[in-house]
Amino acid sequence: MTRSNSSSPFPTLDEAVLAGKRVLVRVDLNVPMENGRITDLTRIDRILSNIREISEKGAKVIILSHLGRPKNGPEAETSLKSVAVALEHELKHLVFFASDCVGPVAKTAVAALRNGDILLLENTRFHAGEIKNDPAFVEQLAELGDLYVNDAFSTAHRAHASTEGIAHKLPAYCGRTMQRELEMLTGMLAYPERPMAAIVGGAKVSTKLELLGNLMRRVEYLFIGGGMANTFLSASGKNVGKSFCETQLAETARKIMADADAANCQLVLPIDAIVSTRLETNAQTRAVDVDHVGENDMILDIGPRTIAKVVGVLAASRTVVWNGPVGAFETPPFQMGTVAIARVAAELTRVHSIQTIAGGGDTIAALNQADVFNDFTYVSTAGGAFLEWLEGKLLPGVEALRGQKAA
Ligand code: 3PG
Ligand code: MG
Repeated sequence: MTRSNSSSPFPTLDEAVLAGKRVLVRVDLNVPMENGRITDLTRIDRILSNIREISEKGAKVIILSHLGRPKNGPEAETSLKSVAVALEHELKHLVFFASDCVGPVAKTAVAALRNGDILLLENTRFHAGEIKNDPAFVEQLAELGDLYVNDAFSTAHRAHASTEGIAHKLPAYCGRTMQRELEMLTGMLAYPERPMAAIVGGAKVSTKLELLGNLMRRVEYLFIGGGMANTFLSASGKNVGKSFCETQLAETARKIMADADAANCQLVLPIDAIVSTRLETNAQTRAVDVDHVGENDMILDIGPRTIAKVVGVLAASRTVVWNGPVGAFETPPFQMGTVAIARVAAELTRVHSIQTIAGGGDTIAALNQADVFNDFTYVSTAGGAFLEWLEGKLLPGVEALRGQKAA
């Protein structure tokens, strides 16, 4: 079959001859975990049909993924072993597990596979070559398969060995989950209805700096919440007490605020906060405005006046994109701001047909907590990749599939 038969700019499974082949499938099993327990299955559930299709077409399915950010080789906390059990349960199909993703252990496990079998290899990030996209490591991975399928849109912003390098070594295809993400996001966001708002939360400005700079050129409103907002508050002269804050980024934060003005983007920051001296379940809290945060306080959620302000932004928008919780949502009662915003966005989607697109592991967990997952127009499993795509950046994992020859 030739590329012209497909509406996708990438070779898809429609073009792959899978029967009898060893197929390396990169997925994103970087699932949220708490004390070794998976707290949200969305990323697993989304990849099931792609895995089933490849298995049912008679291939040997060899799954690659990372989990977390291990720095010094193998460790128990970021082993994919328990994820293999969850995957097997969700797939209702036996999933073999190999305790290394390359070398003799992986080779032996692959050699034992029969057509239709499914094998998950241990965390690719247990090898330094993964993040470095080291050619020797790419080679070791590539030896294990005949074909490569990338089904990990949510990690396509990383040019790593298993997401980018390997696509140049083996005939490479776009998996169904990735294909659908790209189709959905392109369909909804190529020409978004305006005004458009972005809600960006999460902890660190440092990882999202460039992103905020680009995003403000694409949206009319940008609300910054979560730990990141503290850096902006502090940079505008507010006392943030003992809150998480990247003071060394004050200058950058001020530049972002000035640039937003110039870009005609309304940058919205919290005007009040829920503070506590402890980040723990059912800690004593106070709602204060951002001028009255005490020396020993930590800002752990947005306050009621900020919620009202964000609701105003949402109500004025026709398209809303959201990544990152606006408070320490894993620890009650600091989920309340995030849950309130999620419910209002869901309601506006239902009643006023605004387009709401959310993405990212924590954001998905928050939507589930607010019980509105199915009310959003679209929920992407991707966080960082989704935002980079939205900024207009080329994602290395996607680009590596472009122009690939079908086998
Ligand atoms: C994610 O969860 O955003 C992806 O799995 C990528 O993970 P990373 O940010 O550790 O590269
Ligand atoms: Mg992430």
